[in-house]
Amino acid sequence: MNTNIVAYYKDRAQEYEKIYAKQERQDDLQRATTIVQDIFAGKQVLEIACGTGYWTERIAQSASSIFATDINEAVIDVAKSKTYQNNNVSFGVADIYNFPDQNQYEGLFAGFIWSHILLQDLDNFLQRVNQLVVPGGTVVFMDNHFVASSNHPITNIDEQGNTFQTRKLEDGTEHLVLKNFPTAAFLNQKLDGRTRAFEVINLTYYWILIYTIPSE
Ligand SMILES: C[S@@+](CC[C@H](N)C(=O)[O-])C[C@H]1O[C@@H](n2cnc3c(N)ncnc32)[C@H](O)[C@@H]1O
Repeated sequence: MNTNIVAYYKDRAQEYEKIYAKQERQDDLQRATTIVQDIFAGKQVLEIACGTGYWTERIAQSASSIFATDINEAVIDVAKSKTYQNNNVSFGVADIYNFPDQNQYEGLFAGFIWSHILLQDLDNFLQRVNQLVVPGGTVVFMDNHFVASSNHPITNIDEQGNTFQTRKLEDGTEHLVLKNFPTAAFLNQKLDGRTRAFEVINLTYYWILIYTIPSE
């Protein structure tokens, strides 16, 4: 079975946004949209792992600018095909583990990528993410709660405790996809000492982690 997450999202690019059409998640998506639009209003934002631009489109409505990046050109092509009324969006191909940009941003948004980071890689990942934001700037992660009626079941757990789902694409291929579901206590523990103004908002299907980079 395929286990390469980058290839999985490349192949899923055209069908990806069907996930946002799930009826039971619409209220959460509305609330989450309002939350991120409020947080990033007037800010210069870096988005990592932007995918097809679902959140890019929404954040761009209130942010001053957004630089949306992803490792896969195939998903960026979908994101680029959208209309951004404020002409404030630019795109770049970038690997979150080897980010080419040395700039720092007033805000950073990362949707549905935390769950795809191996538990043993989280500390390095967070250190790198935090370096991309100015002191006093805001970082927002959003991701899934596990809700049995709405999520793929977990089919594998490795020795480190990483959890995996078996997923099928419309072309019939099967993929074993890393998908971790952290608790709020785990998020708190991972960020302990690195941030201030830490908050986790729990919706039914999603969690939203918001924190501020310390000033020194
Ligand atoms: C679950 S999708 C989330 C897309 C988008 N943020 C959203 O919320 O709709 C995960 C995204 O992470 C991207 N990705 C996976 N590994 C990456 C890496 N090493 N660097 C940058 N992006 C990566 C994939 O290409 C995919 O677009």
